[in-house]
Amino acid sequence: MAKKPVILLAIESSCDDTSAAVLKDGKILSNCVASQSIHKAYGGVVPEVASRAHQINIVPVVHAALEQAGVAKESLSAIAFTLGPGLMGSLLVGVSFAKSMALSLNIPMIEVHHVQAHILAHFIEAPRPEFPFLCLTVSGGHTQIVQVNDYLQMDILGKTIDDAAGEAFDKTGKLLGLDYPAGPIIDRLAKQGKAIYEFTEPNIPGLDFSFSGLKTNILRFLQKNHRKDPLFIQENLNDICASVQDRIVSILINKLKKAHQQTGIQRIAIAGGVSANSGLRAALKACEGSENWTIYIPKFEYCTDNAAMIAMTAYYKFLNADFCGQEVAPLARYHF
Ligand code: KG4
Ligand code: ZN
Repeated sequence: MAKKPVILLAIESSCDDTSAAVLKDGKILSNCVASQSIHKAYGGVVPEVASRAHQINIVPVVHAALEQAGVAKESLSAIAFTLGPGLMGSLLVGVSFAKSMALSLNIPMIEVHHVQAHILAHFIEAPRPEFPFLCLTVSGGHTQIVQVNDYLQMDILGKTIDDAAGEAFDKTGKLLGLDYPAGPIIDRLAKQGKAIYEFTEPNIPGLDFSFSGLKTNILRFLQKNHRKDPLFIQENLNDICASVQDRIVSILINKLKKAHQQTGIQRIAIAGGVSANSGLRAALKACEGSENWTIYIPKFEYCTDNAAMIAMTAYYKFLNADFCGQEVAPLARYHF
């Protein structure tokens, strides 16, 4: 008798993107994302607004994912969802939806760690890194260097002690009067500018990161120059963006070099929204030659928050029969 296929529905709702994906035997069949542009008006994600939008988006997004995959809900083997870390109200929508759907279909559930999923996005498509590899996970909520020993066996070597790299981009953008999220805007403006302004690199021991000092440094720099010339930001925006991006990228690359020296691992992957940054990508590419690294960067749609990465992680957990029960509750803070 033919083996029954493994078909998973995965749901991601940890921040401001509602996403659902369908996977069959390790292959992604659909990955639908509804982004919430409403937060632009507030200059950042407003948790209450995010959870209300998830509530509106979740049913149509799940329907779209099933329809695009050509999969009937009755043929699902299990339902996966992001348990954390993330915004509690946002997580609650995905977790509660997954629980009720699993209960009504009488199928098991798989809980997934959001950051582990960002890392396992590298296994959605070739080229897939061999173990062990180092992964720099950089997003609006996290900045970590992780040693990935196996699909579900990872060690955090270093992490931010304050802001995440994406927050550094977004908060700088706010100081410059840019829309949220400012990361992609700074990236675009930086391409037309030169990194002529010097921002100090924080002196943080080991493989940990800090970005809050940089933000203060930028704020003081802008205030000082504004006093001399009220049009300073307006007239030098591209160069300011190039300089800020240059410093954030150098902070990330220098810690990666340190991690490489400590572990001897030269397979280097990046994950999370900030891995879309063209300055970071160029700096990593340069290290392929100068440091003899092999670089892995997922497709853009798998870098930012998406449910395909949740489905991929859940697939490995399914193969280990690692299921969870109805008593499971979302975790705003979740360590692995
Ligand atoms: O992974 P993600 O979609 O959501 C979180 O889990 O946080 O990452 C969103 C973050 C935002 O801070 C956004 O500004 C940043 O990723 N980002 C970028 C770029 N694209 C997105 N930062 C710099 N350059 C980009 N091109
Ligand atoms: Zn994320």
